[in-house]
Amino acid sequence: MSDTKTVKLVDEPNKRSSELPLLSGTLGPACVDIGTLYKDTGYFTYDPGYGSTASTKSAITYIDGDQGVLLYRGYPIEQLAEKSSFLETAYLLLNGELPSKDQFVKFEDQITHHTMMHESLKDFFKGFHHDAHPMAMLAASVASLSAFYHDDIDVDNAEDRKLAAIRLIAKMPTIAAACFRYSIGWPFRYPRNNLEYVDRFLHMMFEVPSEPLTLSPVAAKALDLLFILHADHEQNASTSTVRLVGSTGANPYASIAAGITALWGPAHGGANEAVLKMLEEIGSADKVETAVKRAKDKNDNFRLMGFGHRVYKNFDPRAKIIREMTHKVLGELGVNDPLLEVAMKLEEAALKDDYFVERKLYPNVDFYSGIIYKALNIPTEMFTVMFAIARTAGWIAHWIEQHETPGARIGRPRQIYTGANVRDYVPADKR
Ligand code: ACO
Repeated sequence: MSDTKTVKLVDEPNKRSSELPLLSGTLGPACVDIGTLYKDTGYFTYDPGYGSTASTKSAITYIDGDQGVLLYRGYPIEQLAEKSSFLETAYLLLNGELPSKDQFVKFEDQITHHTMMHESLKDFFKGFHHDAHPMAMLAASVASLSAFYHDDIDVDNAEDRKLAAIRLIAKMPTIAAACFRYSIGWPFRYPRNNLEYVDRFLHMMFEVPSEPLTLSPVAAKALDLLFILHADHEQNASTSTVRLVGSTGANPYASIAAGITALWGPAHGGANEAVLKMLEEIGSADKVETAVKRAKDKNDNFRLMGFGHRVYKNFDPRAKIIREMTHKVLGELGVNDPLLEVAMKLEEAALKDDYFVERKLYPNVDFYSGIIYKALNIPTEMFTVMFAIARTAGWIAHWIEQHETPGARIGRPRQIYTGANVRDYVPADKR
């Protein structure tokens, strides 16, 4: 970081000014450090939605939304998608470097031996209604991991932080599969150590006592790729939530549970579920035109789910990778899904429509991921859970980075107060 240049903000009428340092990272635009602005001028800044505000320095992930660039620890997402695996990518996000062969074997072994959930945690599920949304069960179960490991973790101890990361990445698929199986009344499956991460998850999801399960290498490859693409995305809503909760000193399970609830919303990770529901609602390719008309109508709150992104204003590089994969996976699995036709027609119609072109609204990663999840027989309500499994790697990497950063402070935004001026209390009989 070179912190040499400054920007001067002058408030002429009040004869106040502030000399604000300009911060530069290794890539991306410079940032004005406004840390002393209030002290110098008495002003706060206002940026709802954080469109112009960096909330932290981070060395994990870089996005250039105009160029459609996404890097994990400097490595382009396209290269990781082609050559890496989700577990190797998780190691990279956590440690900053790709693992050597020995480092990976050790990491995979640690993950494999932390996959079981406490037997008492299984009892928690009995308290949920059978049709509870899996994201509700996931958030509650991950938060409740605090109850099992709270005394076991000192957030200021690097080894404890690492162990929490291993536990979370390892247990997430086990808990996720339990959420699914509970909702359909199937018995829970224990994780099998002889399977790799993604196969182990698919086994816990779909194995039934009555017949053996044949795992599909195509399904495992597709899922692994989706996990890589979803593993991190710098300071999005859920990661910022994890960091905000983490800034209070809360334990990692509580922090990640907060990230899960933030991810659930349809404007964020819940979009993949919403995309599929929207495609089903549209129903057939001939209804696409009406849907596009509705999405443009400001009196109609219908939006094209899976379109638009706060940062990508050119294209979402993850969407480009998934788009290619969608056709391949459906072909290899022999799935002929009419919803794919609706999706392709919708994409085509939106991409040539002035409304979407002018606003730079392109299909995002969630537009295609739902179609692949559906082809893998993953139920719609589980789509955001799948996202959460992958994003756990990014969340916990950010949580660790935050605790390794010297001088970190509790996150505490300010506000513009728009309520009533000071006034006297009126007794009930006088109101
Ligand atoms: N369909 C129709 N119009 C849209 C859409 C959409 N999907 N997205 C944005 N617009 C319009 C808005 O109405 C607005 O129009 P206006 O300028 O005439 O008022 C303009 O485009 C800008 O939209 P904002 O909401 O200001 O953009 P913002 O950056 O705040 O929101 C977001 C980004 C939340 C992703 C939005 O595009 C959206 O709701 N998309 C659908 C949900 C979705 O796919 N979310 C997944 C995001 S990716 C992820 O989290 C993994």
